[in-house]
Amino acid sequence: MSVTNNNSSARVIDGKELARRTRLEIAAGVAALKAEHGIVPGLAVILVGDNPASVSYVTAKEKACAEVGMLSREIRMPADVPERALLDEIARLNEDSAVHGILVQLPLPKGFDEKRVIDAISPEKDVDGFTPVNVGRMIIGEQCFLPCTPHGIVKLIEFAGIDVRGRHAVVIGRSNIVGKPVAALLARKGTDATVTLCHTGTPDVARFTREADVVVVAAGRPGTLTGDMLKPGAVVIDVGVNRVPDATSPRGYRLVGDADFASCADVASAITPVPGGVGPMTITMLMWNTLSAARRSVV
Ligand code: GUN
Repeated sequence: MSVTNNNSSARVIDGKELARRTRLEIAAGVAALKAEHGIVPGLAVILVGDNPASVSYVTAKEKACAEVGMLSREIRMPADVPERALLDEIARLNEDSAVHGILVQLPLPKGFDEKRVIDAISPEKDVDGFTPVNVGRMIIGEQCFLPCTPHGIVKLIEFAGIDVRGRHAVVIGRSNIVGKPVAALLARKGTDATVTLCHTGTPDVARFTREADVVVVAAGRPGTLTGDMLKPGAVVIDVGVNRVPDATSPRGYRLVGDADFASCADVASAITPVPGGVGPMTITMLMWNTLSAARRSVV
């Protein structure tokens, strides 16, 4: 597909469908590992506190584990648990041979040193790809656990048949979870995009997005990207998951991304929806990493 055609209405990139196909492959891998080596991949999910968005992400991750035949172990801790107890739990899980992947749901409640907590996870079980060892390996192109959302984004772009080689990709947001690693992955040898990373210190983001063939928006704010900021035919990857009040919804809110879907879809050639775009792929790549951690444990 050309990245620069002039469609007036964008193709919607179906993350749910790619997630479904990828999870079938993962489920087959899980079944084979069990049949050949008697190993069932196990993921430990630690949730501290009861942030509603985190609770729903953790629930979705556990459900996805069950669907592909993996084990998940949920460890819930109150928001006021001493950090030492959390670190001790991680140390136990590092030593537990039934646990192949460990995930600490972020953000942690106020008062926790997130860096210290992530550093406590063994890099061999760091299926989020958040530890300095895995981040470093990713940057220098060594075998590692790739962070799930950025990896899912690269897979979605491939699935949509979009070739970003030599194209200009603009990433909005410089978080350690999405912005920085997705910029690195898009610029990797083989993917070969030319990448600009915009952030809260960029005075005129639109100046860059108007030049972009692909915009990845991961700013955590609805309306960050609007159609007037796009070049006709650009591809929009929307990483935002924002709850906005909606009295017509039974839950009292609805989910929107960081891009204004209607105006962007008028100008773009392809766009990921929220929900149903990047989100399902994030969880899928977590399963993928957990399967590969379990495979690596085979002696
Ligand atoms: N919080 C938001 N995204 C993520 C993620 O991918 N992993 C973890 N552990 N926490 C998150």
